[in-house]
Formats: sequence, structure tokens, C-alpha cells
Amino acid sequence: MRHWPITDLELATPDLVLRLPSDAELDELAQVAAEGVVPDGAVFFPQPWASAPPAERARNVVQNHWWARGDWSRDNWRLLLAVFHDGQVIGQQNLSARDFATTGEARTGFWLGRRFQGHGCGTQMRAAALALAFDGLDAARVTSTAFEDNAASRAVSRKFGYRPNGIHRIAVDAHPYDAHEAVVDAASWRDQAQLVPVAIRGLTGGITYFR
Ligand SMILES: CC(C)(COP(=O)(O)OP(=O)(O)OC[C@H]1O[C@@H](n2cnc3c(N)ncnc32)[C@H](O)[C@@H]1OP(=O)(O)O)[C@@H](O)C(=O)NCCC(=O)NCCS
Repeated sequence: MRHWPITDLELATPDLVLRLPSDAELDELAQVAAEGVVPDGAVFFPQPWASAPPAERARNVVQNHWWARGDWSRDNWRLLLAVFHDGQVIGQQNLSARDFATTGEARTGFWLGRRFQGHGCGTQMRAAALALAFDGLDAARVTSTAFEDNAASRAVSRKFGYRPNGIHRIAVDAHPYDAHEAVVDAASWRDQAQLVPVAIRGLTGGITYFR
């Protein structure tokens, strides 16, 4: 789109492509969410959208994408990318920031449909987000927060050289959870960047949307 050039942005890893979804693809992504993201009873997000009933979960995905685009500003942006494997939508990778031009700090979030988990896709998704942040946008540091018992998410952070950055006690549906924040700076990431090669395409037209 001429007037929303972030639509040209595409990140490619050995097995995945990440980009903004069309509405038809967003519908597919919502369906993946409806079919399950977290094990029954698990709470892995501060907003417990993934534990909502399937139809509500799916609608939440759709609205969240529209909201992120409608609410976008250079001071406060949320990039929600659909993740494709062999042309099939399998999950979502987020990169977001407040006052990025000043702080150089961004944060990530990600999820996969349950049947796509545990095959290395999360690692490639995080690699893509980190390459965009550090190589594409010249970030200074990137954070990721995962609940205590989210072993897969925390393992992905460890692989990319993150270090612990504090534990926050937060309430979700009136239950306490320990959210572990981790942070990686550009130098530590560069030491691990060869783990997953990432190609960034189509960023130039939209770069002023980020910083
Ligand atoms: C988190 C998520 C995106 C990770 O993606 P994934 O494709 O499953 O992860 P990968 O297969 O790339 O790698 C996960 C790593 O965690 C490790 N891991 C997974 N489960 C683990 C467990 N129970 N204990 C220890 N390590 C574990 C894997 O061994 C792997 O590390 P390795 O490659 O060194 O062996 C995915 O599991 C998911 O969508 N989970 C539900 C939603 C969610 O929790 N989102 C994140 C919220 S912070």
C-alpha cells in the first residue's frame, strides 16, 4: 500500500516468512488461535486472551491487528506480523516500542498455534524480530517477558543472549504470576545472530513509521 508502506515489509528466515496479513490471512490467523494457543488452564499472557473461548479468542486477534494499525504512532507502535510456513499461517510475531527514537528499546511477543509449537518456529520468529530491531531499525536493546512456567519462551530468549532483567509480580484474573523480563543488547545479539539467518525486505518505505 502506498499509504501504509509497512505492508511491503517482509522478514524471511530459513523456514518462515513474516509480514502484515491481508484481512483474509488475518481470518486464517484468527482460526489458528481459535484452534488453541496455550494448554488448557495455562496462563502465559498478562491479558488472558488465549484462555478465552475460541470464538472470542479469534475475534480478539482480528481486533488487535486492526487496533494496532489504527493506533500506530511513531511514539507508540505495535507491529503485529503474521507468520507463514509453506504459505500457511501458523502464528504471530510482535515487535513494539514507545518513544523508540529516544530510547532505542523495543519489546517482542509471539505465539504459535499449538500444533505448530515445538518445531523450532518460535526460535526463527524471535530471530526475525531481533534482526528487524537491531539490523533494520538500529535498536539498542530488546526485551521479552515470559511467565515463570513458560519454559519454551524463556528458552528462546536464552538462545539469543538475553540476560535476566527483573521479575514482576502481576495479577491475571485475580491470581499472582511472576513475569520474568529478559533483555538483550545489540552486541550480545550479534554474537548469536548466526543461529538463524534473516533477510529483511521492503523496510525502506516505512522506516519513518518506526523512528
Ligand atoms: C513460546 C512459543 C512461541 C515458542 O515457539 P516454539 O516453536 O514452540 O519454540 P522452539 O521450538 O523454537 O524452541 C523452544 C525452545 O524451548 C525449549 N523448550 C520447550 N519446552 C520446554 C520445556 N518444557 N522445558 C525446557 N525447555 C523447553 C525447546 O527445547 C527449545 O529449545 P532448544 O531449541 O534449545 O531445544 C510457542 O511455544 C508458543 O506459541 N507457546 C504458547 C504461547 C506463548 O507462550 N507465547 C509466549 C508468551 S511470553
